[in-house]
Amino acid sequence: MEKKKIGILTGGGDAPGLNAVIYSIVRACSQDYDIIGYRFGYRGLYNNDFMPLDFTTTSGILHRGGTILYSSNKDNLFNYTLEENGQKVKKDVSDVAIANMKKENVDVLVVLGGDGTLTSARDFARKGVNVIGVPKTIDNDLACTDSTFGFDTAVNIVVENLGRLHTTAESHHRVMVVEVMGRSAGWIALHAGIAGSADIILIPEIPYSLDKVIEKIKDREAEQKHFTIIVVTEGAAEKGGQAVVGRIVEDSPDAVRFGGIAAKLAHDIEQCVPNEVRHCTLGHIQRGGNTSAFDRLLSVRYGVKAAEMIAKKQFGNMACLRNGEMDFESLEVVLGSSATGSTAMGLSKRVDPNHELVRVAKSVGISLGD
Ligand code: F6P
Repeated sequence: MEKKKIGILTGGGDAPGLNAVIYSIVRACSQDYDIIGYRFGYRGLYNNDFMPLDFTTTSGILHRGGTILYSSNKDNLFNYTLEENGQKVKKDVSDVAIANMKKENVDVLVVLGGDGTLTSARDFARKGVNVIGVPKTIDNDLACTDSTFGFDTAVNIVVENLGRLHTTAESHHRVMVVEVMGRSAGWIALHAGIAGSADIILIPEIPYSLDKVIEKIKDREAEQKHFTIIVVTEGAAEKGGQAVVGRIVEDSPDAVRFGGIAAKLAHDIEQCVPNEVRHCTLGHIQRGGNTSAFDRLLSVRYGVKAAEMIAKKQFGNMACLRNGEMDFESLEVVLGSSATGSTAMGLSKRVDPNHELVRVAKSVGISLGD
């Protein structure tokens, strides 16, 4: 008898751990299923562009960042850009994707992604597709899971780089402003800032006061600490101000890309202190290279959980981590119940200003700029 088939796709920005999830699903499911991987996320589903996933094609990928399936942060098939008669038009082409899956006898679609990618997964589930979601993002901002894979690796990269920047800041008596990713969630800055002994951590959830930032730099100066390390989330903003937009990526579920707050802040601070102030944006370095041990383990657990959910036909759900245990939650709950095809982002998990880690940071003398 012909085996049933699983299709896997990776959507949105790449994150360390994608390959480890693919690796583990293949190992956990190959006995009962044939497995294929769609290339470039949902675009592959639309173009029926896929590759076989087996022990050979997934050999040696567990530790590697990126995704062997490639990814796209555009391509919402419920609102897809096509060219017709030389004009760009938006169309719902989800039925083409469903027909492609039927043609290939794909019984289950496993979607590895963040809020944009999983919103489409939810919409495919609404159309009767057997979908399983797995939560990916370095930002750690997905609801209903304690941790997304990719986050720990990003935090480790930031911590390592804060160590490097410390030595230069200290040697030159500089203020160093380090911009990290996270969109409108300050998890990376908060975790890495504490672990990397930053002096000031600025996150989107706590709008900062420039005066408070200057006060902390001057306090340090008075304590004979002639340098200051500031970690700022790309989506952070001054009280009463706006986050700095770096670029707009048309067709991306969340088109806004933040970027530039470190440069702005460095300029603002330099008007107020005698030190030289420099800025550094870590950018995509935070998503690159090998996957941390924690993320490898978490990703393998997510993959095995997805396999279990497939076996138990627990479709329309996302695997999640709750209090250290693997669990699952309905995609409708994770993403909220916005209309099909909507580009509204899900119920993102942001830092509560009273979060324990905010209190921890303040207790050890780190300023949150408030
Ligand atoms: O969501 C992950 C993330 O890395 C964000 O932290 C960042 O704002 C965004 O993706 C960058 O996306 P892109 O790779 O499209 O520039």
